[in-house]
Amino acid sequence: MKYSVLTLFPEFFEGLKQFSIIKRAIEDGYIDIETINIRDFSKNKHHKVDDYPYGGGPGMLMQVEPIRDAIASCKTDRSHVVYLSPQGRVLDQNKLKELATYDHLILLNGHYEGIDARALRYVDEEISIGDYVLTGGEIASMVLIDGTSRMINGVLSSEESYSNESHYNHLLEHPQYTRPQTFEGMEVPAVLLSGDHAKVAHYNKVEALRATLMKRPDLLSENKLTTEELKIIKS
Ligand code: ADE
Repeated sequence: MKYSVLTLFPEFFEGLKQFSIIKRAIEDGYIDIETINIRDFSKNKHHKVDDYPYGGGPGMLMQVEPIRDAIASCKTDRSHVVYLSPQGRVLDQNKLKELATYDHLILLNGHYEGIDARALRYVDEEISIGDYVLTGGEIASMVLIDGTSRMINGVLSSEESYSNESHYNHLLEHPQYTRPQTFEGMEVPAVLLSGDHAKVAHYNKVEALRATLMKRPDLLSENKLTTEELKIIKS
């Protein structure tokens, strides 16, 4: 997967590239993150890319021409152009999985009060990371890059696999424990020390359902529960 990030602040992305799983995914060739400074496409001698909104209103808007030209500079037949904006569809795990299947994501980051509405013509979809407003799209882009990269085959090792984690199949992950076995009088549940894999799997399933019921009951209403899960819930 190649990510082309169109931004006025390319430096934002340096940290993302330097640590942990994303760093390893770049080194191993699973992903490539390039940043493209939208300011480089300004025809203004001061490299200005924003202007006042027609009709008045607070703040400045990003102009359409530099955005169009920045997209054109990296777009191919296999690109998918995403504009990060609080007006977009709210990102969830299924959407991340779908986005992870593209070969090339172009991530357009707005700043100031947003972009000239005519720039949306060059965008395939608008995505929000939640119902709140950030100062720009950069942090949202980083969320999208991080969340999609780990869904790409090979990026996570088998120990890091996502098939059991929260939001896989609309369930939260069951609680987990590591050493010490006793901490301030609190014991690790005995079944987890039993070595009985079937018992452990059943216990973890019950605890995943319990966690979801307690913390995010809204997820269960979307969940196509298996007969086993329904039996556990009713018991
Ligand atoms: N830009 C500003 N707020 C945003 C949000 N909630 N999601 C994505 N991009 C944004």
